[in-house]
Amino acid sequence: MPNKKRLVWYLLLATLATFELQSALAGDVAAARTKVQTICQICHGADGVAVIPGAANLSGQQKEYLVTQLRAFRSGSRVEAQMSIVAKTLTDADIENLADWYAAIKVSVEMPKE
Ligand code: HEC
Repeated sequence: MPNKKRLVWYLLLATLATFELQSALAGDVAAARTKVQTICQICHGADGVAVIPGAANLSGQQKEYLVTQLRAFRSGSRVEAQMSIVAKTLTDADIENLADWYAAIKVSVEMPKE
């Protein structure tokens, strides 16, 4: 294939790959939102501020931490009656999306005054 033609192919493939990636990312946010609204918010709130006393605040948490905990609940190495049931329903992609969702929520903190 002549070099110019090859270049056009590469450009086309790169454009398609970028498009795929963008749609995948957009899809992930929508998927996370749906899961959050149907499951997680009952206890953790859609904004990650817990609405039941025993649940943790999740907003602004490190993504790596969230992924590790969700996998631990799913595998059974961390056990809590409610989370162990919820986590069993999550796929690897769900865990990534949900961790992205809660990690992306901006929080601000205020130190206690003396
Ligand atoms: C029925 C209530 C309930 C629902 C629904 C629920 N959780 Fe939880 N979640 C809890 C409780 C309670 C804990 C605290 C567990 C413990 O004490 O070890 C927890 C803990 C967690 C933790 C660990 C937090 C930490 O600081 O270690 C993560 C992460 C988490 N939940 C994510 C989720 C996600 C994501 C969803 C939705 C798919 C979800 N939870 C749905 C009740 C719930």
